Amino acid sequence: IPPPPLYYSPFPTGQQYPMELKNESWSFSRSFLWGVASAAFQIEGAVRDDGRGPSVWDVLGHRVTNYEVNNYTADVVDNNYYLYKEDLARIAALGVKAYSFSLSWSRIMPFGRGPVNQVAIDHYNDVINTCLEYDIIPLVTLYHWDTPLVLQDTYGGWLSEDIVNDFVAYASVAFAAFGDRVTYWFTVNEPIVFCQQYPLPAHYFKNFTIPAEHQQFYCGQSVLLAHSQAYHLGKSMMPNSIIAYKNNGGYKIPLTNSTEDAQAVQRAWDFNEGWFSDPVYLTGDYPASVKNYTASFLRPLTQQEMQSINGSADIYAHDAYTSQFYFAPDGGIDACLANSSNPLYPTCANTSYTYSAADGGWLIGPAADPGASWLHKATDWVPQFLNYIADTWAGGRPIVVSEFGFAEPFEADKTLLQDILYDPLRMSYYHDYTRAMLIALSEGVNLIGCLAWSFVDNFEWASGFSIRFGMQYVNFSDPALPRYYKASFFEYKSAFDIYQE
Ligand code: NOJ
Repeated sequence: IPPPPLYYSPFPTGQQYPMELKNESWSFSRSFLWGVASAAFQIEGAVRDDGRGPSVWDVLGHRVTNYEVNNYTADVVDNNYYLYKEDLARIAALGVKAYSFSLSWSRIMPFGRGPVNQVAIDHYNDVINTCLEYDIIPLVTLYHWDTPLVLQDTYGGWLSEDIVNDFVAYASVAFAAFGDRVTYWFTVNEPIVFCQQYPLPAHYFKNFTIPAEHQQFYCGQSVLLAHSQAYHLGKSMMPNSIIAYKNNGGYKIPLTNSTEDAQAVQRAWDFNEGWFSDPVYLTGDYPASVKNYTASFLRPLTQQEMQSINGSADIYAHDAYTSQFYFAPDGGIDACLANSSNPLYPTCANTSYTYSAADGGWLIGPAADPGASWLHKATDWVPQFLNYIADTWAGGRPIVVSEFGFAEPFEADKTLLQDILYDPLRMSYYHDYTRAMLIALSEGVNLIGCLAWSFVDNFEWASGFSIRFGMQYVNFSDPALPRYYKASFFEYKSAFDIYQE
């Protein structure tokens, strides 16, 4: 297979940020929600404090490799539960306009249902109020993967539709407590990711009776029901709210112009983005390919459910980190589908040109694969992707890039602060990405914001502490857990100094 078209984006020698001068025809509006994103379990720590109940990740976090660095685990991580005021002051100092974070369900409801922990409500009230004092707009996610452990143990978490009522009850507590000050709400974060994780061996939880290869689709169904019910409840409690869920996935590019590669791409859209976005934004129901695939085991959605799901979002939020080249595997799509013994990968496509083994798939470019020396620049796929979302799903709704960001493997031998903080690859990523969004805006895409992942180094789920996404370095060897801005944070910020109208 020939290599895909590749690009190298060197950071010019000796050049500081910003890398290029203003293009007069580009601008971000004053109201553009540019900011940073995080999630409770990845930054908070304090997992046993102030009445918080355990979540599934309290267990899983200790089972991944690289879960510990200098005696710190996700139990402590950035200690943001205690350091949130400092954290908000540091992002406010750079002029950040928006902060997306998640609530810990098991902090608010330690048993997943029932009694509400007032200390947690007070805590998040203060986080929100501190944002508002700094003129930072808070965007709140209800669920970012940290299912209360008791709900996992009782009925299998998202594998069971029992979670729908519990989630909606939790949503109602959050809406009632914070809805007077929070306009932007995301119900769930990246359902594709947490649903596909159910069958992984890392999940030691009882899987009840559902075969591993079907579990993701049961989870997905619970998500659609929970999301849509929470959406309607939210709209009734907070008429001015803006509610969506966060979808995710890379822009999918066929490797060649063969019909088979085009089919591989379409299946990938269907089984990733379309799985949730077709129901919510288009039809109330799954894409035909997903429906056919699941027909033998998943109960069909009722008319009433489809009606409730259809249109249950006010904006389109997408976590868009990368692009991927798709191609039909050996024997083509038909052979793959006929022989597929691995239904966890029903896209029947191969994305190996995107992902490098070295870093778990996040880095694209020289650092990931020194032999390859290439980088797929954001300007070559982000405008196309945002136009694709606008044309396919958004239906005129505003679009938010609810996460984007760049990881590097943690290099233990880098000890000089100046080396750690100078991150030209990440600078280059943010530079290209902000330019790419300006291009999309100039093409008429209704993009209203972008949230960079993330404002601090944090706990990267199954990768533990081995890769870092932060635009601030956190020194995990120092008990005070000091934060330091990396060069990339300034590069990111500079785009909004230069291009803000
Ligand atoms: C998306 C997830 O929402 C977030 O939790 C994760 O850390 C980043 N992607 C990077 O993998």
